[in-house]
Amino acid sequence: MERFKDKIALVTGAASGIGRATAELLAAEGGQVVCTDVQAEQLDETVSTIEKAGGSAFAIRCDVTDPASAEAAIATCVEKNGGINVLCNVAGIGSFVHTDQSTPEHWNKIIAVNLNGTFYMSRAALPHLLQAKGNNIVNVASTAGMMGQAYSAAYCASKWGVVGLTKSMAVEFAKRGLRVNAVCPGGVETNILAGFLPPEGSDRHLMARMGLVDWFTKPSEIAEGIAYLASDAASSVNGTTLSIDNGTAAG
Ligand code: NAI
Repeated sequence: MERFKDKIALVTGAASGIGRATAELLAAEGGQVVCTDVQAEQLDETVSTIEKAGGSAFAIRCDVTDPASAEAAIATCVEKNGGINVLCNVAGIGSFVHTDQSTPEHWNKIIAVNLNGTFYMSRAALPHLLQAKGNNIVNVASTAGMMGQAYSAAYCASKWGVVGLTKSMAVEFAKRGLRVNAVCPGGVETNILAGFLPPEGSDRHLMARMGLVDWFTKPSEIAEGIAYLASDAASSVNGTTLSIDNGTAAG
């Protein structure tokens, strides 16, 4: 399949996990992929893997919490490629903490990357994405954007925010031909899990509510969902959340 032939896609968080798997899949399907992240070395590894497989990609170091960095990444992408067709907002961080022991710094850090970052990248890309119908944004939310989860107040708030941002932009720009969707993964085997260790004194029943199954999804399975939403096969899909969570958010 060459679903992204002649398409330019920018992926945030492309140095690791779901972002890397997404960049690799879009490139494998013919896309020109702009890989962005704060981790420069790992980002180069993503690009190198894509190029070795015969795909086309380049790296831009971009901190999504900085509006100037977000604008510069989009400007470089447009300058080098002549535009942008797909924006995948994947970059994210998280960690468990008892809410009554959390700090404003912890709250602000998570909101800054997950929610503000998604907004800054989208805002910078919108003028370019709106130039042609069929362009789209895919955001990565979470089961934490569909349900309440213990020890995750900031993370949940950020991901519910991402879902709200997704739906708002979907409604606002539908008539102009731009689609905005989100995937909501459950537990996925990536580096982020190192921050999601049960906090001291956590209630095991509350921890168990966060996953129906006792295995993790592979990053490539989330990438498949992102690629579907970003592809022309989903041309009528707008403002949706696609759960890829083994049923966790279903009940
Ligand atoms: P990961 O830790 O492997 O990848 C996250 C990437 O985001 C890293 O490469 C990191 O350097 C980058 N990043 C962090 N701060 C950044 C910043 N300020 N600017 C640019 N890049 C930054 O984790 P994973 O799992 O691949 O996470 C991707 C997304 O998936 C996140 O939004 C996460 O919240 C979401 N997610 C992950 C789940 C999981 O179980 N792994 C479940 C549900 C959602």
